[in-house]
Amino acid sequence: MLNNENHYQLFRMILNKESDGPYDGVMGMAFIEIKQLTKHFRDALKPAVDRFDLETEQGEIITLLGPSGCGKTTTLRMIAGFEQPSSGRIAIGGQVVHDDHFSLPPEKRGIGMVFQDYALFPHLTIEKNVMFGLGKWKTKEKKERTKEVLELVGLSQFADRYPHQLSGGQQQRVALARALAPRPNVILMDEPFSNLDAGLREKMRYEVTNILRKTNTTAIIVTHDQKDAFAVSDRVVVMNEGVVQQVAAPREMYRCPKNCFVAQFLGKTNIITGTLADDLKHVYTHIGRVCLPEKTKALLDQVILSIRPEGCRLVDEGRYCGEVENVIYSGEYQELQVKVRTGEGGYESMILYAPIEQEIESGQMVSFDIAPELVALVEQ
Ligand SMILES: Nc1ncnc2c1ncn2[C@@H]1O[C@H](COP(=O)(O)OP(=O)(O)OP(=O)(O)O)[C@@H](O)[C@H]1O
Ligand SMILES: [Mg+2]
Repeated sequence: MLNNENHYQLFRMILNKESDGPYDGVMGMAFIEIKQLTKHFRDALKPAVDRFDLETEQGEIITLLGPSGCGKTTTLRMIAGFEQPSSGRIAIGGQVVHDDHFSLPPEKRGIGMVFQDYALFPHLTIEKNVMFGLGKWKTKEKKERTKEVLELVGLSQFADRYPHQLSGGQQQRVALARALAPRPNVILMDEPFSNLDAGLREKMRYEVTNILRKTNTTAIIVTHDQKDAFAVSDRVVVMNEGVVQQVAAPREMYRCPKNCFVAQFLGKTNIITGTLADDLKHVYTHIGRVCLPEKTKALLDQVILSIRPEGCRLVDEGRYCGEVENVIYSGEYQELQVKVRTGEGGYESMILYAPIEQEIESGQMVSFDIAPELVALVEQ
């Protein structure tokens, strides 16, 4: 709920916009185009956001994913116009909204913003909260549009209630309805799911994406949760220390992480070094020869592999074997920490996932194979 005057001011700024409806788009042209966007806060040693590049299509849902402090919110605030970039260029729907010589104020950018705490006005009903989003519209049109968006988010029956009479998920849908009401070109959402418990979070991921898809709204969503990012987005932007690490669709990003950071940030993985074989399809490592999903174009002999735990399949006479050190039960699967034997008589500690129905205890010997599809060559 709204608890700070700053928020209120920001919100007023966006809402004073008189919308002309969604941008029709030009075929073949990026809808949002961000080039070399940089923010260097005064006295900071490094930029909070360093030469951020991104191009999106209209209707695309993008998430910015990364650890705390990596520059996600700062990027979002620069796109919205609340934070002045140090350098770089932003265009929306073919119109430059920021470059080194010019900066369009937030209320003129056609952007709807959903804040992390939803920023609903506690003294206004749900209907009035949404109508507030329509600033200078005529009263009749405001009422009609409010009815329409409340229907869209499935909250028509709550129009006369106050925010405190709604659940967290319902409040979030009100915030989304309010942001969508003026038919913005772009919706920006900062950690929209972080206040919700696990069950509701999953439901809201589904509902929010449905609503964004139905309205063909381009959205940039900030999250530090990999599951949120994978569930809602067409493409994910992984950031670390202000720098974009990789931009890719969830499946591609998980299977082919570009570097160790991305591989380790997107779930558990085993990082193992080795030497590339002459056939360019295998890597000699401490634990034995590991097969790649396809011939690599890597130019170096010394390479790093990311091997996903779910790619290590327990079998009776597998190529690799080791002793189970620890079993962690998660409900959906068992995570095994295994001391895998190396050729030199030592061992390499690895993580494997095993189906829950398999009885496995610490101290037990296991053998396994590695599915090449879940092996990736990564950069340092
Ligand atoms: N107004 C500011 N003045 C100075 N430094 C700032 C300011 N706002 C953010 N920073 C710094 O910029 C960096 C990026 O902050 P940002 O809020 O964008 O991170 P974030 O990725 O959104 O993190 P979180 O997941 O914790 O919300 C941090 O080091 C932060 O301390
Ligand atoms: Mg943040």
